[in-house]
Amino acid sequence: MQAVKADSNRNIARARAHSNIAFIKYWGNRDQQLRLPASSSLSMNLADLYTTTEVEWSASAERDSVSIDGVPATGAVLARVQRHLHALRRRFDINQSARVTSRNNFPMGAGLASSAAAFAALTLAATAALRADVTEKELTSLARLGSGSAARSIPAGYVQWHRGDSHESSFAESIAAPEHWQLVDVIALVSRAHKSVGSTRGHASAASSILQEARIRSAGTRLAALKRALLQRDFATLARITEEESNLMHAVMMTSQPPLFYWEPQSLRIMRAVRRWRLEAGIQVCYTLDAGPNVHCICLSEHAAAVADRLGGLLPGIEILQSKVGGGATVLGRESALG
Ligand code: DP6
Repeated sequence: MQAVKADSNRNIARARAHSNIAFIKYWGNRDQQLRLPASSSLSMNLADLYTTTEVEWSASAERDSVSIDGVPATGAVLARVQRHLHALRRRFDINQSARVTSRNNFPMGAGLASSAAAFAALTLAATAALRADVTEKELTSLARLGSGSAARSIPAGYVQWHRGDSHESSFAESIAAPEHWQLVDVIALVSRAHKSVGSTRGHASAASSILQEARIRSAGTRLAALKRALLQRDFATLARITEEESNLMHAVMMTSQPPLFYWEPQSLRIMRAVRRWRLEAGIQVCYTLDAGPNVHCICLSEHAAAVADRLGGLLPGIEILQSKVGGGATVLGRESALG
């Protein structure tokens, strides 16, 4: 993360943040307003999936304006961004309106954590435009107010989000730099469609599953074991816990009221194949899914080409995205560049 310099009269800044994929999942909130999660989580940033956002604060503009991928935001999307801008205005004691221009280099709302990259980039650009003096820790908490997983897209590399029990104590921090381990996420894009039930509604119904309590009670043990495996570069253990976490989260989703089924038939075919490739062909790969049907195949970088090949063989024509481990959110500049 770059330091914020006070060197211009225009309250404008551009920032970039990467999406992230969780090994230990966040699903369910103890406080839905503050997005205080039911349990801590752990993820890696995705270098090749990112959002670039420009924010200009202005005393003369009458209202906030938001454009995403060249299209003016309206309705629920605009309302969510404005809610976040209000939280930032309250924190920094300003009453200016914001012009927000945002671009994703990957499909939005397809279970690729677009809200994580989006709210991390928005939070950093908005605070940088104000020349506000904010620590990385506070930035993660502020980003969390927009989207829980956005907290994890602020720090670099492999990141743990501590659940905390207040706004200040629920924050994320890097536990290892991107260079620590060259893992690659090979994403099988089962569907590019916008998901029908968004994460925010999903979090709200998590407690209605009788499995959620058991999942949360045992989450700390899995996080500690996965963190150890990550720090020791023990792929077999990382793979076992990552798949268990994904299955547990989806079991909660499927047994909530109303039930949420994010998997598609192709998702399940890939999950089964990935286990076969690991356990029978010795390819160091495991799967994890977020709130969507796309399958993230986490593998050692030397196995990424084989994983992509095998995915193509399993489901001919399937679209594949690939990403290395990413750095933290960064300020790109303080001049206008996005249209
Ligand atoms: C399934 O962070 O998208 O990806 O705070 O409502 O934006 P909101 O939720 P979001 O939740 C996504 C959770 C997950 C698992 C994870 O990333 O930990």
